[in-house]
Amino acid sequence: MTACGGDGGDGAGGGTDDGKITLGFSQVGAESGWRTANTKSIQDSAKQAGIDLKFSDAQQKQENQIKAIRSFIQQKVDIIAFSPVVESGWDTVLKEAKDAGIPVILTDRAVDSTDTTLYKTFIGSDFVEEGKKAGDWLVNQYTTTTDPVNIVELQGTTGSAPANDRKKGFGDVIATDPKFKIIASQTGEFTRAKGKEVMEAFLKANPDIDVLYAHNDDMGLGAIEAIEGAGKKPGTDIKIITVDAVHDGMQALADGKINFIVECSPLLGPQLMDLVQKVHAGETVEPRVITKETTFTQEQAKAVLPERQY
Ligand code: AHR
Repeated sequence: MTACGGDGGDGAGGGTDDGKITLGFSQVGAESGWRTANTKSIQDSAKQAGIDLKFSDAQQKQENQIKAIRSFIQQKVDIIAFSPVVESGWDTVLKEAKDAGIPVILTDRAVDSTDTTLYKTFIGSDFVEEGKKAGDWLVNQYTTTTDPVNIVELQGTTGSAPANDRKKGFGDVIATDPKFKIIASQTGEFTRAKGKEVMEAFLKANPDIDVLYAHNDDMGLGAIEAIEGAGKKPGTDIKIITVDAVHDGMQALADGKINFIVECSPLLGPQLMDLVQKVHAGETVEPRVITKETTFTQEQAKAVLPERQY
């Protein structure tokens, strides 16, 4: 686990006499452009809100997040927030936080705990909806043909909420027409390098790929390198749908190498700090705060790219 004081972190725990709220935040890692933008949003908004942030990077490992949360409990921070790398296995540590009287806020990703009193609120995207938007776009592209449409899927981190839900949302939509076939599906761990590696294997094993559905832009960008390396034209020979809409993904969309992107906003910092202040003040907060998001075609990407924040 890599831990640091973050913005204004001074090593002191909650109960400091400077009157500031101390927030312990356990981040998933730095696996993607989305995650980098999310970390910046959280650090910048904590600073702006005058919140003492203790930031810890779990390097994509659940055990590191559990250690970080236990360390935040020991330090008696005022609030703990975290973005759970996977959905299951959180009940014990969440109960420890509850017993210590430290409220927990989930950001970005959900946990599968049935006891919802273990956390105050969950702020983040509706990942099932994102998968559905990807599926809807695809179905609309192929209304005039009955030929099979061969799809390969690059899944996010195994066991993570976005991987589970984006798969489900997409799968539910394309299941309405048997011509859509997922001929290969494997994790690319949300990273560019793994996306490239897995796509190379997909291309070797399957000569007739029509569509790639990648659960994030980074894996899609890695896959583009693999497709070009195999002498094919991304966006033309193989249609590509991704999720996130980070700058590099939007550039590839504007350049015609990706066909459609479903937005997943990483700019959760301001809303998170607002929730932290409300929870700390003992105010009631909504149990679920859903991020507002859109989708982008190639033309839309060209139009919005100059003003894109991340
Ligand atoms: O949980 C959000 C997902 O995590 C993003 O879509 C992906 O890029 C990131 O790694």
